[in-house]
Amino acid sequence: MELNRRTVIAGAAAAGIAATTLGGTAQASGGRTPVKKLFGKLADGTKVYLWSLENGGTRLKVLNWGGVVQGLEIPDRHGRYVNVSLGFDNIDDYVAKTPYFGALIGRYGNRIAKGQFTLDGKSYQLSVNDGVNSLHGGKQGFDKHIWDVEPFTKGSDVGLHLYYTSVDGEMGYPGTLKAKVTYTLTRHGDWRIDYEATTDKATVVNLTNHVYWNLAGEGSGTIEDHELKIAASRYTPTDSGLIPTGELAKVAGTPFDFRHAKAIGRDIRAAHPQQVTAKGYDHNWVLDKGITAKPEHVATLRDPRSGRTLKIATNEPGLQFYSGNFLDGTLVGTGGHTYRQGDALCLETQHFPDSPNHANFPSTVLRPGQTYRSTTIHSFSA
Ligand code: GLA
Repeated sequence: MELNRRTVIAGAAAAGIAATTLGGTAQASGGRTPVKKLFGKLADGTKVYLWSLENGGTRLKVLNWGGVVQGLEIPDRHGRYVNVSLGFDNIDDYVAKTPYFGALIGRYGNRIAKGQFTLDGKSYQLSVNDGVNSLHGGKQGFDKHIWDVEPFTKGSDVGLHLYYTSVDGEMGYPGTLKAKVTYTLTRHGDWRIDYEATTDKATVVNLTNHVYWNLAGEGSGTIEDHELKIAASRYTPTDSGLIPTGELAKVAGTPFDFRHAKAIGRDIRAAHPQQVTAKGYDHNWVLDKGITAKPEHVATLRDPRSGRTLKIATNEPGLQFYSGNFLDGTLVGTGGHTYRQGDALCLETQHFPDSPNHANFPSTVLRPGQTYRSTTIHSFSA
């Protein structure tokens, strides 16, 4: 049975289960004003704050550093809450060693080959931080900056506006890019992300968020039994540096076919050459719906044991499914457990990696006078 969030919370209350957090009782609707507390300090003394939001049965914790989702708690079918997002309990670990846990990614989600592209006849060299390639915006991407945060409550929604201005030339990108990201928790407990950006010179933009999901709880073990469904008939195969070759390959008859829900572990060791290169899944799925004016449902992730289910809707044409291949047991997460390979997965809504170098991919160019807009909605049920 699929319970809605209201039923879960009401059920928990009726059963006398303590559903308290943030110093209060979980509410079915009408979230309260976000609260902030000191999380830590950067080496130069800059204060890093943790914002706590709650609405419709979802609890979200966000840092002003990188817009990082430091925690995201949702109930299972019995109303039991766990944190389903990997993270750290201190700022030093985020600064020193995070593999983008929960972070906002910019200016460009995923890789640009050799950190180079040409736009309007001009060549640009970006910051290179992944072998010879530029990954997630370069050495100091949007995930490694303090964002200005403005809390809001609007009708039955609560949320945060996050602002970051990337100056002309930062990480090699042309144009001053003004980015605004809004995290909203709706009265149904959906977590919605709205990205907006403007520029004063032609540039490329591809913003996303890098939550690592484990619907059984962060630090609880593998996600190989999670079931995943992606509405995509094609994906973008990569070379040995995880750069798309430009081909839009069919998923039919390959381990990349998630058109019907299947356990992630089922084909993860199928030894398809693309999996051998990536150490699992680390690819962009070409969503069948293409670019849409409004967000449309594209993926469902479900943990059969707890019943926790995540549905993702987006207006974007691509989805990066990364099966946590580089987690190697050396990071200790929020709950005090190590994170090992396959202990979480990422589902990053996006334009395709390396689009600036592939004329057959949807364009990521943003020009003065235009507004970049992207929306992703995460809906939870159990
Ligand atoms: C993305 C990439 C992966 C990896 C992770 C971060 O998802 O596709 O290859 O770099 O980020 O570790």
